[in-house]
Amino acid sequence: MADSLGIGLLGLGVVGRGVLDALQFNAQAYETRCGRRLEVRAAAVRNVAARTSLASSGLSISDAPLVLSTLDEVDIIVELMGGEEPATDCIRAALSAGKSVVTANKEVMAKHGPELLELAERSGGELRYEASVGGGIPIIGVLQRDLQANEVSSVRAIINGTTNYMITAMSRDGKSYDAALAEAQQLGYAEADPTSDVDGIDASYKLAILASLAFHSQVGPDDVYREGIRSLEARDFVHARELGYAIRMLATARQTPFGLDLRVHPTLIPTSDPMAGVEGVLNAVGVSGDPIGSVVLEGPGAGAGATSSAVVADILEVAGRLASSQAPRHLRPIDQSPRLAPLTDICVRTYLRLEVPDRAGVLAELGTAFAAEGVSIASVLQTPHPERAESADLIVTTHSCADGALDRVLTGLTRSDSEIELGVRLRIEDGCDND
Ligand SMILES: NC(=O)c1ccc[n+]([C@@H]2O[C@H](COP(=O)([O-])OP(=O)(O)OC[C@H]3O[C@@H](n4cnc5c(N)ncnc54)[C@H](OP(=O)(O)O)[C@@H]3O)[C@@H](O)[C@H]2O)c1
Repeated sequence: MADSLGIGLLGLGVVGRGVLDALQFNAQAYETRCGRRLEVRAAAVRNVAARTSLASSGLSISDAPLVLSTLDEVDIIVELMGGEEPATDCIRAALSAGKSVVTANKEVMAKHGPELLELAERSGGELRYEASVGGGIPIIGVLQRDLQANEVSSVRAIINGTTNYMITAMSRDGKSYDAALAEAQQLGYAEADPTSDVDGIDASYKLAILASLAFHSQVGPDDVYREGIRSLEARDFVHARELGYAIRMLATARQTPFGLDLRVHPTLIPTSDPMAGVEGVLNAVGVSGDPIGSVVLEGPGAGAGATSSAVVADILEVAGRLASSQAPRHLRPIDQSPRLAPLTDICVRTYLRLEVPDRAGVLAELGTAFAAEGVSIASVLQTPHPERAESADLIVTTHSCADGALDRVLTGLTRSDSEIELGVRLRIEDGCDND
């Protein structure tokens, strides 16, 4: 026992199985790399009965992850169940028992990261979470270690493969939102209930984790403004392209004079922007800072192989430290309550699809409403409404203006007795903002 380290695997699903396979197939190489043999000594799943062949190969499998988390023969707990509970309780119990933990769980790290990292520091364990953002992209380690000399000014990321796949299908193949979702579900890229992905919840967890590291601040998911992709239509991609833009579900965290600007929403970016070339289920994270300038990492954001690559790297790091009796290096957010920039104060350009009655006077009405709030229109394009002969689509882009000023314009234009409807509002990020 002394010359090996015990691993407890909580979860044997897509990622857990990938990790188990990697640890078994590469056992010799990993032992050489970290100086100790790694033994998976126990695993927990919900449905034990479905794992008879694994159990017969000698692996102890139970449906009690909390019990497993504190077993004496386990040194490293690898949490791959997903969801907030019982994962958080298990990680807490393992750390309290002085064990180290590796997790891929973005929800737990976004909501409870600071508390758990502090617990790890107090109890002498280590908590690593490379796979929680960007799957196989090694962005957590890059922010924690390789970019630590920098003052980060912004993080821009495509960190949800499901929405990027759907957006690519809508853009490239002209698919509707529903058809793109059905295709993503059929291919296993979207859950039966896609809410967390299409409403930007998953991306907001990941952005909170990235922003906490980039700005040394305690950023939680509720600090992130988020909008999903449900109101996108295939024709928005056509209009955006005509204007020189691609649409991407972008997660951005920026330092502004008003505080941290944290947003997840579909965004128009120039077709020349490297993020516009990130298609399908790929993820990408760009970090800008001083003195480095800009760095972009792109790669597979999900899947057993990519994710287990990140999880196993964390396991090897922890195992190497345990094998050489080194103390862990703890990194916790310094600023416990960062100042957040109110979105209403942020200046952005915006793309609007307004559904309007096809009659004289509408453009004048619009012009008056925009002018009253000092919002300057950059371009207007009128096209027939695809379903309603008496209506038209007006594609309006604005010059940079405070988001709150545009809120007031739209509230007035779409008041209950108005014939004008807001189809979609998409912020444009083309470097022409001046907040
Ligand atoms: N899939 C990816 O590509 C990917 C990428 C990046 C990060 N992640 C993260 O990795 C983690 C695992 O994802 P996954 O895709 O592997 O999930 P998954 O396929 O749904 O597997 C979850 C596993 O956890 C077990 N489990 C769930 N709740 C449990 C409970 N209460 N008690 C005992 N066992 C329980 C399940 O048991 P049963 O099999 O018996 O149901 C299953 O083996 C999540 O945090 C996810 O966000 C996944």
